[in-house]
Amino acid sequence: MSQKNYSRIIGTGRYLPEKIVTNVDLEKKVDTSDAWIRERTGIEQRHIAADDQTTCDLAEQASLKALEMAEIEASEIDLIIVATTTPDKTFPSTACLLQQRLAIHGCPAFDIQAVCSGFVYALSVADQFIKTGMAKCVLVVGSETLSRITNWSDRNTCVLFGDGAGAVLLQASEEAGILSTHIHADGQYEDLLHVPSGVSKLPKTDSIEERTMAMRGNEVFKMAVNTLSRIAKETLDANGLQKEDIDWLVPHQANLRIINGTAKKLKLSPEQAVVTVHKHANTSSASVPMALDEAIRDGRIQRGHMLLLEAFGGGFTWGSALIRY
Ligand code: ACO
Repeated sequence: MSQKNYSRIIGTGRYLPEKIVTNVDLEKKVDTSDAWIRERTGIEQRHIAADDQTTCDLAEQASLKALEMAEIEASEIDLIIVATTTPDKTFPSTACLLQQRLAIHGCPAFDIQAVCSGFVYALSVADQFIKTGMAKCVLVVGSETLSRITNWSDRNTCVLFGDGAGAVLLQASEEAGILSTHIHADGQYEDLLHVPSGVSKLPKTDSIEERTMAMRGNEVFKMAVNTLSRIAKETLDANGLQKEDIDWLVPHQANLRIINGTAKKLKLSPEQAVVTVHKHANTSSASVPMALDEAIRDGRIQRGHMLLLEAFGGGFTWGSALIRY
């Protein structure tokens, strides 16, 4: 009897809020320049959620697009996982709020918090559920309103981040599918990239710095480049594959220099790396599924292509997925 235990992508979707803030707009707020931001990061603009728009609103729009592409009803979903660092509420989870929006009841729904690696973590968890037969149709979403935890007067961070959401629908299949996922963390780097306070760790003062992202950018950059090439090797080795077997790198969109550096180490041409960071800056857990959706919808990624998804973020956390699309 054949086993239906691969996770196959049957639909993707993305959503970016309407409001665009360009580098030139930021020049008016902090001591920076369009030229500096483009040269150091590749970023040209970011989308920012409206005041009444939440992470769940963004997730809902991306999910509806994924459902439309997959041509299935929401009622077929039997697990929802939302990766987010910026949930609507302390509780319920954003996944439960999303379940309500999709008007479905009963299937498990939970959030994953692994910052920029959140989507890859969520994909890995979803894949385990499908492999073991616990789920047959999983909605995996990365959604963020990072603008809410950004200090708009800190030039070291505010130029780097934006809001958005990406969604992927996975279905159990006899055909691959996700070939492997690899996830890691090392908590010792907490202070290099974090928000100093939260729900339980209360801010000591009223200062905005306590409630927004703090980052030692240069150190994060070096760790990201080294770690991402290590995880690419780990992923290929686990599957007995070579660099030449990869058709597309679908990386976390934080910085064009990190993406190009990773592609070069994999001996991929710059065109083989899906790049969207210039359009929306770093959207944390939303960036990988948004890049995936863009390259599927514009026809670059075709059925049968080999995709390497990878991400690195606060924690530190990092992860990858090798997928035969
Ligand atoms: N505009 C103008 N100048 C700036 C700005 C800005 N927005 N920000 C910093 N500078 C200045 C610094 O103050 C410094 O000035 P100094 O030399 O007088 O001290 C100078 O530019 C160079 O600063 P560096 O930090 O060395 O610049 P670097 O080339 O490392 O670029 C950057 C900074 C873009 C933050 C880079 O380190 C980076 O991208 N790091 C990764 C950060 C990241 O992506 N984090 C997100 C989460 S983790 C992840 O997703 C991978």
